[in-house]
Amino acid sequence: MKLHYQLNAAFTTLLLIIMAVTGYVIYSLLLNLLVQNEQQQLEQKGEILVSVMNEQYQSLGDVDKISAFLQEQDLQLFLYNRQNNSVLYSTMPEEVVKGFYKNNYFSNAESNLWEYHSDKYVISRILVLPRGANLELILLTPMKDLQAVQHKFIERLLIVFIIGAAVAVLLSYFLTNKLVTPLTRLKYQLKKIEKRKFDEIEPIQATGEIREVAKSVYDMANELSRYISSQQSFFQNASHELKTPLMTIQGYAEGIKENVFEEAEKETGLEVMVTEVKRLKKIINEMILLAKLDSEQAAYDPEQIDASELVQQVADRMLPFASENNVKLKVDIAEGMTIYADGEKMLRALLNLVVNGIRHAASVVEISFVTRGRQKLLIVEDDGDGIPPDLMDNIFHRFVKGKQGDTGLGLAIVRAIVEQSGGKITVENAETGGARFIILFEGNG
Ligand SMILES: Nc1ncnc2c1ncn2[C@@H]1O[C@H](COP(=O)(O)OP(=O)(O)OP(=O)(O)O)[C@@H](O)[C@H]1O
Ligand SMILES: [Mg+2]
Repeated sequence: MKLHYQLNAAFTTLLLIIMAVTGYVIYSLLLNLLVQNEQQQLEQKGEILVSVMNEQYQSLGDVDKISAFLQEQDLQLFLYNRQNNSVLYSTMPEEVVKGFYKNNYFSNAESNLWEYHSDKYVISRILVLPRGANLELILLTPMKDLQAVQHKFIERLLIVFIIGAAVAVLLSYFLTNKLVTPLTRLKYQLKKIEKRKFDEIEPIQATGEIREVAKSVYDMANELSRYISSQQSFFQNASHELKTPLMTIQGYAEGIKENVFEEAEKETGLEVMVTEVKRLKKIINEMILLAKLDSEQAAYDPEQIDASELVQQVADRMLPFASENNVKLKVDIAEGMTIYADGEKMLRALLNLVVNGIRHAASVVEISFVTRGRQKLLIVEDDGDGIPPDLMDNIFHRFVKGKQGDTGLGLAIVRAIVEQSGGKITVENAETGGARFIILFEGNG
């Protein structure tokens, strides 16, 4: 069942239950109230009659006159003599009076609800003149009259309830509609995401939690779209990078096989083939490493590592390559600094950065370590031409490389390692113009 209908059904059921309970409580209390009220009214009427009678008639001998007076009142009543338990005057039919006698109602002053067959009466008794004569005026109202009032009241209440319920259900229909419509719209947007039609996604009007959910959905869609396009460009780039050396190798191999080359050309061809195979091997190894870094969290073995030791290892390994390129390696790091990371992988990341630095530096590459409060910064900076502006935004992406670039995977590996260690890597061009890579650890170790 649709959410819209579910909400409406739940609300309507709740409303009906509340109305039924309220109606029942009112119905059962109402009759009691009416009886009490009727008794009070009878009492008031009786007192007025008695005071009139007290003024006008002085003795029991006036019973006939009293009866005549009472007859004029158009009320249901008895004039009852307590002393000899006799009814002196009655406006009720004979058999009803007899029935009351039978049930001893007259002699029992306690009972104020009399019953004859299935008819009930509310009664009120008032003493009449002369004092001491024990004459009582008994006024009656049939319960049927009160029940009629009760039914009339309930009928009206029912009409009010029905109108109220209709208005409430209508209101709930509009409110739930308002609530559910954004969800339905969001569902259509999700369908578009499912079909990968990211360009067709439209924002929806919503408030509160639904708005937050919608925002998460858009963020997710953006992320998914980015991921899919990066995946696509990864495959395009990867196949391109693998195809180029393979074609070179194929060309030379076929040429050598068919003997179309001179001896010297053959020699060059074999050399090129060896270089290209090495390159292919490097690309494939780096791709495998990247895949591992992306998927195997368990491959990480973080520990407290001494930052100066780590940097010294980098410098030791890079010294031959640096002097080959006439570049000086400067290390600026205090003793006793630690970071919490996988030592071997961090070494690999720093080596990648320093190789890049040496390749692009004019004369010097500097590795330094700075602490700023809880932040720890590992910085690799060179004095070369810096990162070309067109590469700046996606330099850490796979296969992104400059004119003299190699595979374009080195920095992607660096970023994967740094992020898996809980750090962040950024790049900027230094004041000297050279590239400055900053690895930031927040409260790490
Ligand atoms: N220190 C730097 N100065 C100037 N440009 C740089 C520097 N480091 C990297 N780059 C640019 O960024 C590109 C990508 O670097 P990355 O290390 O990812 O790949 P690569 O060096 O080309 O290949 P690989 O590192 O896989 O051998 C490089 O091709 C180069 O153009
Ligand atoms: Mg590199």
